[in-house]
Amino acid sequence: MDTITLSFDPLCVDPADAAALYVELGWGTPARYSAARLRRSLAQCNVVLSAHNAAGELVGLLRALTDGALDTKILDLVIAPEYQRQGLGLRMMARFAGHRAVRGTAIYFETERKNFAFAAKCGYARRKGLAVFARTPQGMQ
Ligand SMILES: CC(C)(COP(=O)(O)OP(=O)(O)OC[C@H]1O[C@@H](n2cnc3c(N)ncnc32)[C@H](O)[C@@H]1OP(=O)(O)O)[C@@H](O)C(=O)NCCC(=O)NCCS
Repeated sequence: MDTITLSFDPLCVDPADAAALYVELGWGTPARYSAARLRRSLAQCNVVLSAHNAAGELVGLLRALTDGALDTKILDLVIAPEYQRQGLGLRMMARFAGHRAVRGTAIYFETERKNFAFAAKCGYARRKGLAVFARTPQGMQ
């Protein structure tokens, strides 16, 4: 893999690139993941960790919310398809957990079954008996 640079500066992330990454991964439509929405999200998440390759392209993004004392919720972590399975997700999760606002808090995230091995590899245990409940605005499923 070429040199990947990680940064906690949300201004490093071009919202249009972030939107394109979500759409490329099939997570939603350009209407849901628009550059305008991503701009607002990146400004209001209190921890944003990005990964750029040597050419300056966005290849990974982690968005999270923390209270800085008790609980932290990772909203999502996305790695560009051509950079998956090369250790970047693991590296980003480790860097994230060391962030000063996150350290010492309980970290939660939800994920699909196909990512359970990744979650375990990152040191997370599945909470039995818990399920995800969601209330999504129309057109944002
Ligand atoms: C899930 C995701 C974040 C993992 O990131 P990644 O950079 O590909 O993962 P890594 O290379 O750091 O994987 C570390 C370890 O986790 C495990 N792992 C990762 N992906 C796996 C998969 N698809 N199947 C089985 N094990 C997997 C492996 O043990 C892997 O180590 P190995 O490659 O030496 O065997 C990435 O694939 C992704 O962005 N997927 C699409 C978006 C998504 O589903 N995000 C939800 C994340 S919670």
